Amino acid sequence: MSAPRRNVELKALDPDPARSLAACRDLGAEDRGVLRQRDTYFRARAGRLKLREQEPGGATLIQYDRPDAAAARESRYRLTPVPDPDELRASLDAALGTLVVVDKERHLLLWEGVRIHLDTVAGLGSFVELEGVAPPESDLGPEREKLARLQRALGIEEILTDSYSDRLLGADALVAAAREAMGRAHAPYSRFHVGAALRADDGSIHAGANVENAAYPQGQCAEASAIGVLVAAGRTRVAEAAVIAEGGDVCVPCGGCRQRLREFMPLDAPVHLCSTAGERRTVALETLLPMSFGPEHLPA
Ligand code: THU
Repeated sequence: MSAPRRNVELKALDPDPARSLAACRDLGAEDRGVLRQRDTYFRARAGRLKLREQEPGGATLIQYDRPDAAAARESRYRLTPVPDPDELRASLDAALGTLVVVDKERHLLLWEGVRIHLDTVAGLGSFVELEGVAPPESDLGPEREKLARLQRALGIEEILTDSYSDRLLGADALVAAAREAMGRAHAPYSRFHVGAALRADDGSIHAGANVENAAYPQGQCAEASAIGVLVAAGRTRVAEAAVIAEGGDVCVPCGGCRQRLREFMPLDAPVHLCSTAGERRTVALETLLPMSFGPEHLPA
């Protein structure tokens, strides 16, 4: 058995994957093509344990520790090739239980020993991930230096501290809160029931529903209700939003509500557009409201 492998890694939202790909090519990164990956996370007592099934490629059991930090951070991991993923998945599910499944398409590029992942994750959106794999004797200095260079070249400013699995689990909780609020909508006129939920910067969730009125223009959208709940709870910053309505099509916020969210949310923050049939599409607020006007445009 060998010592755990180490790398230095960082992840960020990617508002423009086509631009990131062009930047990687400009740097001379080697294009290794697109991989489809399905990661099944099991309930582990310590650290994380996932079964990765990759096309093209094969299956690998990955055990790792992952400290959360808003900087490039070190990760230690072990990889075990898995010849029979269906059997192993069933065994681990029976013994430990499955936490979450993450499906993604990964465009893999290599640059000076750094793996660049341009990831599109089902239900979450687009991300860029950098992994500097370290030789055993490295003090991680050279890997950090390369990551910093790539970070500048790709224009990455804000590093994410949570993993895709954390995000999916978090998004699930947010969508569940929106759905619960939707069930209490007052919409006797349109009969279109909408729920919205907002995650504040402290992690707390605030939800609301649409509230209609016999004098139609007095009606209020679900997003406006949720914002009222958030502000009344003493929060003013929104990290993530979810909107849901009944039916098969995902619910998109009206123009007015896009602007309402703009007041409280960063433009790169994710908005989950959902349907009760289980559809989910995640986009950055900026995609819903390009070239927008915000508080920073007013004189100080
Ligand atoms: N509605 C929302 O609650 N949020 C939106 O972003 C779109 C529309 C509500 C308002 C009204 O009660 C009903 O849907 C039909 O327009």
